[in-house]
Amino acid sequence: MDLAGKKIVLGLTGGIACYKAAELTRALIKAGASVQVVMTDAATHFITPVTMQALSGQTVYTDQWDPRVANNMAHIDLTRGADAIVIAPCSADFIAKLAQGRCDDLLSTLCVARPMQVPLLVAPAMNVEMWQNPATQRNVQQIAADGITIMGPGVGEQACGETGLGRMLEPAQLLELICAAFQAKSLAGKKVLITAGPTFEAIDPVRGITNLSSGKMGYAIARAAYAAGAQVTLVSGPTALVAPYGVQRIDVTTARQMHDSVLAQVGGQEVFIAVAAVADWHVSNAAEQKIKKDGASGLPTLQFAPNPDILAAVAALPDRPYCVGFAAESEQLLQHAEAKRVKKNIPLLVGNIGHETFGKDDNELVLFDAQGHTHLARADKNSLAQQLIAAIAARL
Ligand code: CTP
Repeated sequence: MDLAGKKIVLGLTGGIACYKAAELTRALIKAGASVQVVMTDAATHFITPVTMQALSGQTVYTDQWDPRVANNMAHIDLTRGADAIVIAPCSADFIAKLAQGRCDDLLSTLCVARPMQVPLLVAPAMNVEMWQNPATQRNVQQIAADGITIMGPGVGEQACGETGLGRMLEPAQLLELICAAFQAKSLAGKKVLITAGPTFEAIDPVRGITNLSSGKMGYAIARAAYAAGAQVTLVSGPTALVAPYGVQRIDVTTARQMHDSVLAQVGGQEVFIAVAAVADWHVSNAAEQKIKKDGASGLPTLQFAPNPDILAAVAALPDRPYCVGFAAESEQLLQHAEAKRVKKNIPLLVGNIGHETFGKDDNELVLFDAQGHTHLARADKNSLAQQLIAAIAARL
């Protein structure tokens, strides 16, 4: 996640989710942003300005008439030079104010007084009934039509004991969406299908064969594609990762399940990115019961049968999407990767430099297409994923 140099005004309104705003502040700063906190009076009942000041490292403002602002125009000064205003948590009352353009406290005045090119993002947080109330829904539609980005809300257990829509999204999800707001929408409206992670081929009910893929690169690409405006479906082998916000994830285990899932989803997709490390074979004599160490047949003998090549199957479709493959080569990347691109009959193949990238947070890539190859220098996988998505968008 990269927000280097971005100035974010973070507004807090009254709601128990204020406690999550503390973690959001830390996450924004860790991603490189500076955070200017502004709180409504109601927000100060849930978390103190002292906490937010300590975390943000900047003076927290709560009052329109704060004498510390020399010209007494905090509502103007705080948004000039800002890259985005984020309201998290955003109460039902504050959404109503935004819908009406009311200016009866510092935060609401500041929102109305912002230059219109400064994006305003809100993370609703309220009880399920408050969220579903027709007045709230009417106000949400109004602010969305006014160009305000609505992040969430999420669904789940609420502080009041009720369950449903209205929970504020988690700080990590908000961070993804805030980063996405700064990215070019180079895949706006496009449908993108991605495979990620390893596959797992059973030997018996408790043992199997898999590989070292963590899924991090594929998930980063899914995140970057969503941030670029695409509708993303991620067919994932077993990983420990949380699905990127806004991405539809389909979980599979074996290569054959991944193949069937991809072929069921591929109709209407405009881009297919095969990032998964798919097992080339499965165990054809997998045991139905656990193989016993001291069983009558002695040491087990495994027999293998080939798995379908998912990328080749998609690339062979008559109305195929734009296909992107990955290659993890342990030697002679340039020759092997280009040969693989031609053999698989795909326009773009991404080579991992070395196979030690598995599980790591950074990577180094080479893009191979009919024109030649382009090196993407070692970087965080999220940043490489953004560069790859830009490269794909430019080739579509
Ligand atoms: N791939 C696939 N289905 C398979 C095997 C691979 O879709 N059964 C895809 C991978 O997701 C990747 C690309 O094909 O995008 C290259 O995979 P790789 O394992 O490097 O190539 P292979 O064709 O399996 O060749 P080899 O293992 O011999 O290098």
